[in-house]
Amino acid sequence: MFIKPVETASIARLFEIIGIGERLAEEGARRQLALTDRPDMQRFFRQQAAQERFHRVVFEKAVAFIAPRGYSRLREFQPLAHFQRLVEDACERRDLAETLFAQQIVLEGFGEVVFERIDVGMTERGFGLETLRRALRRQEHAHHQFGLRKLHELRQLGYIDVEALKCRAVEYVAVTDQALEQLADLFTCFGEDPAMYRDRLHEGIPHWLRPA
Ligand SMILES: [Fe+2]
Ligand SMILES: [Fe+2]
Repeated sequence: MFIKPVETASIARLFEIIGIGERLAEEGARRQLALTDRPDMQRFFRQQAAQERFHRVVFEKAVAFIAPRGYSRLREFQPLAHFQRLVEDACERRDLAETLFAQQIVLEGFGEVVFERIDVGMTERGFGLETLRRALRRQEHAHHQFGLRKLHELRQLGYIDVEALKCRAVEYVAVTDQALEQLADLFTCFGEDPAMYRDRLHEGIPHWLRPA
């Protein structure tokens, strides 16, 4: 494994923020469980929560391993804390469609792109763990695909007020834009282009919900 010393703090920071995202994904999936009595959805949310828990542990261990001496931990990452409040609010309103959009479309869509890019970065730096990386990517992809399928299904069944959800979608997308802005230094450090992430995220949103 080869990492330039100047990169260790940045990699630790990136992994720490991903760990926060994984916690959000896990807690969200557990909350979603209470919003449906459909066995297929309950099974999925249970399995997703277990997988996100595993992802979080992987990233927390990686931070502990990689963080340089004197590294100061983040207490919270504000855009993700905001995202969590929005999801909690949707859960209180028992708006399953909004939570699917937030958790499985936006958060998982974001995770999918981030994991794909990390995979490239780790390969370039000669990291091992290919099997683990492949498994994580496969799982994030499956979480995102589930959200796309279920939202489509709920729409077909007439359970979604498309215009209302479109308005809510704008807010979630604004939070991800905010996250990208706050991560600007990290993007620069790794030579990544935030615009590419933004574009991919938008492409991952069903066209009927995509903000203009
Ligand atoms: Fe995850
Ligand atoms: Fe996930």
